[in-house]
Amino acid sequence: MKKPAALPASIDATLALLAGADYLADRSLATVLFLALKMGRPLFLEGEAGVGKTEIAKVLSATLGRRLIRLQCYEGLDVAAAVYEWNYAEQMIAIRLAEAEGNIDRERLSHDVFSERFLIKRPLLQALEPDPDGAPVLLIDEIDRTDEAFEAFLLEVLADFQVTVPEMGTVKAAHPPIVVITSNRTREIHDALKRRCLYHWVGYPSAERELAIVCAKVPGIAERLSQEVVRVVQALRKEDLFKAPGVAETLDWASALTELNVVTLDPATMSDTLGVLLKYQDDIARIEGSKAKELLDQVRAELRAAE
Ligand SMILES: Nc1ncnc2c1ncn2[C@@H]1O[C@H](COP(=O)(O)OP(=O)(O)OP(=O)(O)O)[C@@H](O)[C@H]1O
Ligand SMILES: [Mg+2]
Repeated sequence: MKKPAALPASIDATLALLAGADYLADRSLATVLFLALKMGRPLFLEGEAGVGKTEIAKVLSATLGRRLIRLQCYEGLDVAAAVYEWNYAEQMIAIRLAEAEGNIDRERLSHDVFSERFLIKRPLLQALEPDPDGAPVLLIDEIDRTDEAFEAFLLEVLADFQVTVPEMGTVKAAHPPIVVITSNRTREIHDALKRRCLYHWVGYPSAERELAIVCAKVPGIAERLSQEVVRVVQALRKEDLFKAPGVAETLDWASALTELNVVTLDPATMSDTLGVLLKYQDDIARIEGSKAKELLDQVRAELRAAE
């Protein structure tokens, strides 16, 4: 049997593992991630939109060669969608067939239709099953969208890494999955759940790190443009905007400008492409025109001073 890929042995190894998949983390994130892996604890990531929370789970799955199981949370998410559900249609057919064959030993039939064959496994149950590649990465994405009842249920699952299917028994993970939970903080998550996890607030990257991310993810971008883009985005985050751009928007903007063969920003190009960066009309109206020019002049002056 193939041996599962080893977990990183140090904080530096964790940084290197992520960097290998073009994920450039700061040291504090690598530290909690290293500890979460080492201690077998869920990692709870909170932060603004588009700062690389979900990506962490994807990168872990890819670099460790583990299966990625994603539970996308939404309002009204229930056990049937998150854990398991009986396949009623198949069960009905099986019962009808048994009846047609005159084969109706009640005990036997009810035992048969509540067997694994008729069980539809949803992400949480899948994550507890053994996997030859090693325990999977379980991504519980945007937990703040679910309600508190589901959160309480999740707490139970994360406490023992087991779930009970009343008709069948308890399923317990031999090796607990690597759990990453993300939240955009549209509401506070209960302390009891946070207590089970190691917590990290994912902030916007520093200019230096954001530049490295742009260079890694937008190959072929003109060097001057990459610097201007990052500085403009960093300056925009200091403005009083309804929704500041995340790293996702920086990358989109850098790619869009590269597609347009831009090598250096000018106010007109900036105003025309603001929709890649800002997604609210009020924000765009605030920045386009004279403000865009002002920001660009400021960025140029900064870059000149740095030369
Ligand atoms: N540190 C980083 N290194 C490399 N890429 C990054 C980094 N941070 C963010 N990204 C990139 O930014 C994009 C957005 O990341 P992701 O979807 O993980 O954000 P998120 O925090 O989950 O956002 P949301 O809250 O909107 O779901 C991805 O394409 C990801 O690759
Ligand atoms: Mg996300």
